[in-house]
Amino acid sequence: MAKIKKLSQKKVSTVFELFAVLIGSVFGFVFTIVFAEQLQMANFKRNQMSPSSSGAIFHEVVTTEADKLTKEVRNLCWILTQPKSHYRKAVHVKNTWGKRCDKLIFMSTENDTSLGAVALDTPEGRENLWGKTKAAFRYVYEHHLEEYDWFLKADDDTYTIIENLRYMLSNYDPKFPIYFGSRLRLFYKEGILGGGSGYVLSREATRKFVEEALPNKSICKQSNQGLEDVEIAGCLLKSGVLIGDSRDSLERGRFFPLGPHIHIRGGIPQWYKKNAFYKPYAGFNDCSESAIAFHYVAPELMYWYDFLLYFVRAFGVQRQQPFPAELPPGVRGLPREVSASSWQGAKRGSTWLGASPRAVPGGKPRRPPTLTSVDPVRASLVSSRLPPRHWAGRNTPPL
Ligand SMILES: *[C@@H]1O[C@H](CO)[C@@H](O)[C@H](O)[C@H]1NC(C)=O
Ligand SMILES: *[C@@H]1O[C@H](CO)[C@@H](O)[C@H](O)[C@H]1NC(C)=O
Repeated sequence: MAKIKKLSQKKVSTVFELFAVLIGSVFGFVFTIVFAEQLQMANFKRNQMSPSSSGAIFHEVVTTEADKLTKEVRNLCWILTQPKSHYRKAVHVKNTWGKRCDKLIFMSTENDTSLGAVALDTPEGRENLWGKTKAAFRYVYEHHLEEYDWFLKADDDTYTIIENLRYMLSNYDPKFPIYFGSRLRLFYKEGILGGGSGYVLSREATRKFVEEALPNKSICKQSNQGLEDVEIAGCLLKSGVLIGDSRDSLERGRFFPLGPHIHIRGGIPQWYKKNAFYKPYAGFNDCSESAIAFHYVAPELMYWYDFLLYFVRAFGVQRQQPFPAELPPGVRGLPREVSASSWQGAKRGSTWLGASPRAVPGGKPRRPPTLTSVDPVRASLVSSRLPPRHWAGRNTPPL
């Protein structure tokens, strides 16, 4: 009897042991997965993804046309960052869109040669963004002004499609004082360009800003404090730098102050609806295919965007060709060679940037193709969504 009891006790304990092992391994398995994922995330955040390894993932094929623009439109990108974001945010810009700039510099308050960060001689902190921006432009002016045509300022949570930036800028002469970005109806009649999605200054605008505007206290605020995009807008305006129209030939935006998901789904916030300089569109058809910049893009998403833009393709789907025209209607490009007289013409012209169209050597001036000539089906689709013409007219600042 006692023997049987002992045996059954043994059986029970064996079953119990087995059960415990089972529970233990299931728990361990789950634990490992969760833990590994967290570890991976931490590694990701600490940049275990090296620039070279991510560079090897994507098979970017640059067409000869885009390649030509790379030589014609040389751009320097500088990214406003801070030491604590070097390996949380900045490095992911470097791994993704930043590598497509002709030159990439991170403006910080600590040197980091492996990242490419420069220590500016300004106090750190959000309240000193204006001081940092001034120092950053002084830095690019002193070290690189003649090497590049355009100088893009972006944040470490901006995502930029550099090929499209070059495409738009190829219409403008960098010797012309102009800058482009996401235009907001704030502070000045001409508006300002919001800092988050970045703005790009021509070489001449950069020169005017640093040489003429910055030292002059009746043009630029001399202290470090202030909102960088508002302050620079005032400086540039007062020193005769124009705000360019960065929309495409269908008046669709290309610099966006929010992430693409927000602009696409249409839930744009009230502040943007109220302050957008041009009509704030929402939805698929209202975002330009030649979109340039988005803001509030988390590091993980930058890899997603790179993946979708430069790697994944849908079998059998041909994208619209040719690429949509670069300029909005009524806005013409500037002659590649800007003379004093064409600059005066630009100021007096009937369209707000009414300079003569870009001269094509030995040919007729190039006119942007209309959508109807590019893609009639799409034209009818989009025209029903375009705002009435008076909207664009009403927003046109007199020059
Ligand atoms: C950063 O590097 C530059 C150039 O090497 C040097 O002149 C400067 O003193 C350094 N600044 C800091 C804060 O380390
Ligand atoms: C500073 O700017 C004002 C206003 O544009 C101008 O009248 C003045 O001559 C400038 N001062 C210097 C030193 O350039």
